Amino acid sequence: TVLVVDFGAQYAQLIARRVRECHVHSEIVPSTMPVEEMLAKKPKAIILSGGPSSVYADGAPAVGAELFETGVPTFGICYGFQAMTRALGGVVDKTDLSEFGRTELTADIDSVLFEGLPEGLSVWMSHGDSVAQAPAGFKSTASTAGAPVAAFEDTERRLFGVQFHPEVMHTEHGQDLMRRFLYEGAGCRPTWTMVNIVEEQLERIREQIGDKRVICALSGGVDSAVAGALVQRAVGDQLTCVFVDHGLLRKGEADQVEKDFVAITGAKLKVVDAEERFLGALAGVTDPEEKRKIIGREFIRIFEQAAREVVAESGDDGSEVEFLVQGTLYPDVVESGGGTGTANIKSHHNVGGLPDDLQFTLVEPLRELFKDEVRKVGEELGLPPEMVWRQPFPGPGLGIRIIGEVNRERLEILREADAIAREELTRAGLDRDIWQCPVVLLADVRSVGVQGDGRTYGHPVVLRPVSSEDAMTADWSRVPYDVLARISNRITNEVREINRVTLDVTSKPPGTIEWE
Ligand code: XMP
Repeated sequence: TVLVVDFGAQYAQLIARRVRECHVHSEIVPSTMPVEEMLAKKPKAIILSGGPSSVYADGAPAVGAELFETGVPTFGICYGFQAMTRALGGVVDKTDLSEFGRTELTADIDSVLFEGLPEGLSVWMSHGDSVAQAPAGFKSTASTAGAPVAAFEDTERRLFGVQFHPEVMHTEHGQDLMRRFLYEGAGCRPTWTMVNIVEEQLERIREQIGDKRVICALSGGVDSAVAGALVQRAVGDQLTCVFVDHGLLRKGEADQVEKDFVAITGAKLKVVDAEERFLGALAGVTDPEEKRKIIGREFIRIFEQAAREVVAESGDDGSEVEFLVQGTLYPDVVESGGGTGTANIKSHHNVGGLPDDLQFTLVEPLRELFKDEVRKVGEELGLPPEMVWRQPFPGPGLGIRIIGEVNRERLEILREADAIAREELTRAGLDRDIWQCPVVLLADVRSVGVQGDGRTYGHPVVLRPVSSEDAMTADWSRVPYDVLARISNRITNEVREINRVTLDVTSKPPGTIEWE
């Protein structure tokens, strides 16, 4: 593994992903972890991430020189670069030459990091202080107007550093640099492949579950489908998948789970038709938080009931369902402070917020993976592209995309509009560029229109296409006008109650992706 030491900025996850894109396993550890503990993980390399803008900043985490005496190849990035400089006796100066954003860099291509790359590179900078003098034993390998030493290396000790951010998209050849450090600098080999990941996970799942029974709540989303498929492959019929159809699903969703998922994985599936119950509970409710709470609460009740039935139906040999599969991803794990498998379920919105007292042991086969890796695992397991590349969909479903009361008629309207938008985006080949595109029905708003010879008085929908890497932040997607025109045309023609289509051009923040 390669350890990415997190100095508390948002860059660590991005670095960890870039490392994995080079087919090398990576793990994020906090900068407070003692060096012996890091070494116990037998890292092939260590990468120090960006962090506070200055090593002189209040509370800036210090880095002891012992980290660089371990013999493990190390790459300092931005803050990590400066921290390395200070720890090893170089000079970091407070200059007035801050650089933020795109910056021109001149590189020495007679170096391990820059060999084979152009001498002039446009890189992404974000620093106030600069390294004025590299520590003894290092050779300076790049400079910019504001950073006399913008990169350095000591090939003897296999220590490398750069002032800029090779992990961000705006840095030209950033990924090449990452690759050069990993392969040439640190001698890593590209062995983190999907086949290996799947094999390793299957092994672990079998070890954890043994001959016990396990259930998995399918949501129709990518994560639960891939997690379920993995566990099915590992323990076969010990797994029962439960799919709660709450009536707030997208068009064709229930079918897809029943046909595609089951047909391909061979999983045992229990479908609970709970539309009546959910719509009954939601009647008259308009407050978003209240809707979410109701949906979560009903979900739990139905799910618990289903779990009891699974036990009863499986012929009574006295063994209860002990394990619950959950599609927790690596970013959730990192954000909640790491740690390993917990005995109780935590409240997690993927499964509608299951409560603390639900006594299952969690099986979380995706807890080391990023979303794009989950998709690749899904492909490796043979799940169809429509399933693997589908847009993320919130647990409370269309219930939080109808602004106003939720009822069957409104759901029907929204389902049609949503299906058209998805179809056209897919047809335009935009599925992989757009993170998701909620369609929101402003059910309590009406607007006047004209169609044929007549006046109409219908409802508007809002298209909310966003691009994002992790849903934490997002930008509105610049969907080509002709695609928007087709979506608008078709929705207003094919869905009688909708006479206006609008576009949401708000980033996140300040807007969230969903409207409720
Ligand atoms: P927001 O609206 O918070 O959404 O910007 C971020 C991402 O999370 C999804 N989302 C949910 N997913 N249960 C879920 O499983 C929920 O209650 C929920 N609310 C929002 C949303 O679709 C987006 O991808």
